[in-house]
Amino acid sequence: MSNVKITGFGDDLTINGTRLGDLSPSAHEEIELNNGGQNYKPLENVVVSHVQDSSTLICRKPDPSNVQAYIEEEVLDGLCCYSAVNQGQLNKTIVDAVVKHLTEEKLPTVPRSIRHKYMSGLLLAITGITEMDRAVPKVAGVEAPELLFKLSRRWGYQKKEIPAEEAIVVAANGNFHGRSMTAISLSDDPDSRTDFGPFVPGIELVPFNDIDTLQNLFERKGDRIASFMVEPIQGEAGVIVPDEDYFTKVSALCKQHNILLAMDEVQTGFGRTGANFAHQLFGVKPDIMGCGKAAGGGILPVSFVAGSDEVIGTLTPGSEGSTFGGYPLGAVAAIFAIKVLEDEKLAENARIRGAQLMNHFEDIMNEFPDKIKEVRGKGLLTAFEMHNEPHLDGHKVSVNLMNNGVYAKETHHSTVRLAPALTIEAWQIDNLAEAIRKVVKEL
Ligand SMILES: Cc1ncc(COP(=O)(O)O)c(C=O)c1O
Repeated sequence: MSNVKITGFGDDLTINGTRLGDLSPSAHEEIELNNGGQNYKPLENVVVSHVQDSSTLICRKPDPSNVQAYIEEEVLDGLCCYSAVNQGQLNKTIVDAVVKHLTEEKLPTVPRSIRHKYMSGLLLAITGITEMDRAVPKVAGVEAPELLFKLSRRWGYQKKEIPAEEAIVVAANGNFHGRSMTAISLSDDPDSRTDFGPFVPGIELVPFNDIDTLQNLFERKGDRIASFMVEPIQGEAGVIVPDEDYFTKVSALCKQHNILLAMDEVQTGFGRTGANFAHQLFGVKPDIMGCGKAAGGGILPVSFVAGSDEVIGTLTPGSEGSTFGGYPLGAVAAIFAIKVLEDEKLAENARIRGAQLMNHFEDIMNEFPDKIKEVRGKGLLTAFEMHNEPHLDGHKVSVNLMNNGVYAKETHHSTVRLAPALTIEAWQIDNLAEAIRKVVKEL
């Protein structure tokens, strides 16, 4: 006898008698509490239902007159899935391409042990947009830094001739590279690390945006250092933008000591910061770079590492792989994600709308200097930081923004990040800023 019966679609999707359209926000919360891992703490009293337009979600909130029921409201998406949806929710070009390829072009699902025709398209598109020699497709965002790490070590042993088992990868304090064992071994965040040790060895951390400490470390241990693995702008740390000349100095130091510059552009890539890839803002070119999130056009998880022949050329059959990395459907989504990045001039729009949003932030900071300490950003990767006082609470800001029809989320107690879709329009930026102004005023 079967334990599970599934019927219907959307609101009528019914699992063992539970119809999704009948669930209130608190009923959803209860199912997550009873049946899910408690590794997230989502915003209270709101459940996303569907998309209205590229920057607007329809959300369900408790019905004030009956908590067992819900009402639906429009919510402006100020985060776009942490930059996974740079092309906008349900971008028509990408959705049409995916549907057409599934239904008309009869996309197969095959592993890497047999060639499929879309892989060529994917590799040409990625090497074209990144201006890199080679690319290796993966799936989740975290797999990109994971592969940056592996490639760093392999290149270190095979090309730089670091003695066996002695390679060091240098990373920056406050980094976020994901949740794998390697990523949390690189991290200095206790929440990510507690009780998950022992960690991957051969890692050294330096403060971000501190060239002297990096230089000192390179001088002491440079012969065993394979790479400096770093986000060009630290996203999860609260949108930390380095000094304009930091990466030119980093790049020169790396060249001087024969150390790879490995950049994690999972969050900053695909137009987010006003350039196709954030390293272009700083006039440097990494040896290897990892991308994810918007690489799949907000439709599918797609990630990749792109880089130089010398580094990616160290991979051999059997040394690396992924069943779904660059499989036909992922390849199609990624090719069209790149097409939209170019055709819809997403980086340019990020620059224009980002400047508009930063102007608003500065006005709000000037109006409430006792509340807002700093505003930061490049393109549409932006944040405002409040003074460190108990009542200036980022979580309260997120909750109150939701009550005013905007989805954003604090990164730390006092920092709130805004990273809307790069297709966002001027009037939506004005609405976003007005909601922030109102919420900050009431704090
Ligand atoms: C810079 C960076 N690297 C890696 C990741 C991990 O990506 P994912 O959560 O898709 O595995 C993230 C996610 O936020 C990120 O910001």
